[in-house]
Amino acid sequence: MMLCSGLSSTLLLAATCSLITSGFIRAQVSFPSNVTAISTGRVVTSNGLSVHRLSCVGGRIIVRSAVYRCGGEVTCSQGDAENNVRNSCDGKTVCDIKSNITYDPGVCRYLETTYDCFPHHNVTCEGSQSNLQCGEGQVIVVSWANYGRRDTTTCPGQYTIANLYDVNCVWPGSMEYVTNRCNGKNSCTVEAKSPVDPCGGIYKYLEVFYTCQAPPCRPGWTWSGGRCFIFDSSQKNWTDAESSCKTLGGHLASFHSTAEYTFIRGLIYTAAGSYKDAWLGGRENGTVWMWIDGSQFDFINWAKGEPNNAGGNNCIQINLKGQDYVNDAGCSHQFSFVCVRDP
Ligand SMILES: *[C@@H]1O[C@H](CO)[C@@H](O)[C@H](O)[C@H]1NC(C)=O
Ligand SMILES: *[C@@H]1O[C@H](CO)[C@@H](O)[C@H](O)[C@H]1NC(C)=O
Ligand SMILES: *[C@@H]1O[C@H](CO)[C@@H](O)[C@H](O)[C@H]1NC(C)=O
Ligand SMILES: *[C@@H]1O[C@H](CO)[C@@H](O)[C@H](O)[C@H]1NC(C)=O
Ligand SMILES: *[C@@H]1O[C@H](CO)[C@@H](O)[C@H](O)[C@H]1NC(C)=O
Repeated sequence: MMLCSGLSSTLLLAATCSLITSGFIRAQVSFPSNVTAISTGRVVTSNGLSVHRLSCVGGRIIVRSAVYRCGGEVTCSQGDAENNVRNSCDGKTVCDIKSNITYDPGVCRYLETTYDCFPHHNVTCEGSQSNLQCGEGQVIVVSWANYGRRDTTTCPGQYTIANLYDVNCVWPGSMEYVTNRCNGKNSCTVEAKSPVDPCGGIYKYLEVFYTCQAPPCRPGWTWSGGRCFIFDSSQKNWTDAESSCKTLGGHLASFHSTAEYTFIRGLIYTAAGSYKDAWLGGRENGTVWMWIDGSQFDFINWAKGEPNNAGGNNCIQINLKGQDYVNDAGCSHQFSFVCVRDP
C-alpha cells in the first residue's frame, strides 16, 4: 500500500514551476532566458498498468513533476516517481512510461506528469562543425544561438581556466549567422567560427537552440503537433463525414494526448463559437477501438461511464451537449466533424 499525504498537487506544482521562470539548469544545460518552452503537457494515467505517453513535437521533453495521486488534491508518495520519469523522458521527443499502479480505489490511482517541451540544444566547440537535423518533413527554426562562452564547463578542450574565464562572451552576429544557414532547412552544417573574434584568447563554442517544425498547413487548416486540422460544421453521419475528410486529403481526426484533445475542442470553439457536438475518427471494429487515420489507438479519455455501447453505439463523438466529454455514439447520427491531414 502506498502512503497518502495531504499535500496538494497545486502546491507541488507551484514549487516546481518556479524552476522555469527565468532560465534554469537541468542536466548541465543552462537555458538562456530567451529560450522558452514551446508547449506544456500534462498526462494522467489510471487503471493500473497502462502506458503513459509524453510527447514533445519539435523539441525535447523536460519533466516538471510526476506525482501519484489518490484522486482529488491528495497526493501520494511511491518511491521517487519523479526521478524515474525524468530519467526515462528528459531529452526525448516521445516517451512511454509503463506505469505500474495498483488499482486500489482510495489509494494511489493516478500518475500525473507535467512537462515542458523545450527546443533542441546543440553545442560545437571552436573549429568544429555542427550538424543540426530535424525529422523527415520537418524544418529547422532557430530559437537562439551564440558563438562565444556562457560557462566554464562546456568545451573545456585542452585549454586552461584562463581560456575559459570569460563567461559573458557573446558574438552579436550569431543569430544571423545560424539562421541564414539553417532556417527552413531539414538539416544544415554550421562551423563554430566567426569572421571577427568576439573575445580574443577565449576558447569558444557555438551553441544553438532550435525547434523542428512542419511546413505550414494549407489555408483554412490549423497546424498542431505536425498535423493540420479543420472543423466542418455541416451535419453528417460518421461514414459521410469520413468521406468528406477523404475528399480533403485526410481522415476524421484522431488524438493521442490530453493536449491534442484540448486543441481539437479549442479548434471547434474558435470556428463554431461553442463546443459543438462533433465526430472524430474513432470507431469500434468488432470489440477493438481504432482511429480511421490508421494511427495507434494509444490514448483516449472516455467520459465516466463511457463507452457504454448504448444502442450499438460505436463511433467517437466529443462535446456531447457541449460537455468536455468523449462518448461513443451511434454512427448514423448527424454531427459536425473535424478532419486531420498532413501539411
Ligand atoms: C533575447 O531577448 C532580448 C529581449 O527580447 C532581445 O533583445 C535579444 O536580441 C534576444 N537575444 C537573442 C540571442 O535572441
Ligand atoms: C509491476 O509491479 C509488480 C509488483 O511490484 C512487478 O512484479 C511487475 O513486474 C511490475 N510490472 C511492470 C511492467 O513494471
Ligand atoms: C549536434 O552537433 C554535433 C556536432 O557538434 C553533431 O555530431 C550532432 O549530430 C548534433 N546533434 C543534433 C541532434 O543535431
Ligand atoms: C477490422 O478488424 C478486422 C479483423 O481484426 C481487420 O481484418 C480489418 O482490417 C479491420 N478493419 C479496419 C477498417 O481496420
Ligand atoms: C449515412 O448517410 C448516407 C446518406 O448521406 C447513407 O447512404 C448511409 O447509409 C448513412 N450511413 C449510416 C451508417 O447511417
